[in-house]
Amino acid sequence: MPINELYTKKVDVDNLIPGDIIANDIYLTNGALVIRNGTILSDRHIEALQRMGKRIVTIDIRNVYINAVEDSKIIMKKAEDGKNITPEEVKTAISPILREVKRERNVSRLLLELQSQDEYTFQHTINIGVISLSLAKWMGCTDNDELVRIAMAGTLHDIGKSRIPRPILRKPGKLTPGEFEIMKKHVFFGKKILEKDGTYGSDLECAILQHHERIDGTGYPYGLKGDQIHSYAKIVAVADVYHALTSKRVYKDKVNPFRVLEHLKKNIDSLDTEIVLTFIDNMLNCLLGCTVELSNGEVGKVIFTDRDKISKPLIKLEDRNEVLQLGERKDIAISDILVV
Ligand SMILES: [Fe+2]
Ligand SMILES: [Fe+2]
Repeated sequence: MPINELYTKKVDVDNLIPGDIIANDIYLTNGALVIRNGTILSDRHIEALQRMGKRIVTIDIRNVYINAVEDSKIIMKKAEDGKNITPEEVKTAISPILREVKRERNVSRLLLELQSQDEYTFQHTINIGVISLSLAKWMGCTDNDELVRIAMAGTLHDIGKSRIPRPILRKPGKLTPGEFEIMKKHVFFGKKILEKDGTYGSDLECAILQHHERIDGTGYPYGLKGDQIHSYAKIVAVADVYHALTSKRVYKDKVNPFRVLEHLKKNIDSLDTEIVLTFIDNMLNCLLGCTVELSNGEVGKVIFTDRDKISKPLIKLEDRNEVLQLGERKDIAISDILVV
């Protein structure tokens, strides 16, 4: 069965880690098969590849996502049953995906990979962990322990939803004001779940309790403002709003990150300005060079992006040797991203 391209990754042999799975057969120059596709790499394999002088190999990362979703289901179920969840358990569950975040510099590609998982709740959980970690790195955090804690805060941010009645949690339409009041309690339930274990620390508890607080005081549960909100909560909030926008699917079946980043910028007053702009700049950087489909059916490559005209980058058209300034064409928009 051919592996979907989104689930493979080209990796320099020096960045291989034991446990990586090879996605293509690897041959010597004389045609002899050295490593078969599907092989789980050991230290010995990696050394052999280095000795061969092979620089780039393709690995299969399907299981990273499948396992991450499975593990987050188990954690959510334990929370639902009132069982204790330890920080070690959460760390173990997210460590393979954190490894990919460290290896994959192009976070927008990672996020697209994650979007192909169909179950929203679990996809959301992992996405927020990945985005929060990337954001913390982009904000200049280099302390590995702290990065892991921020990723854990992102992953656990909605754990309290495990205590919200299912009919409210899964209601397809808009919640009534009464239902919304119940939904808001997930931040308290989340904090309680962490407190039950008692070893998460106040920074993670704050992040979970405050991830719906907004800089301008319009958030909940306490209507905190500015610096009253913990920095982890501010990071998780940006990740949460971004992912909520991508999942609304109001634009098209497939999500167009340019439009979503533009919407995020419109929400900037309620979020931390520096974090939002750092996120937008880095995401745009990741999207530079991606192949897009335009609303007139043409295909091209993004060759220049601009924070002030997020959804109107410069496009080099594939068929004609021409650069299209989307900013000057109100009649054409990006309709889809084909390759990141
Ligand atoms: Fe939430
Ligand atoms: Fe959320």
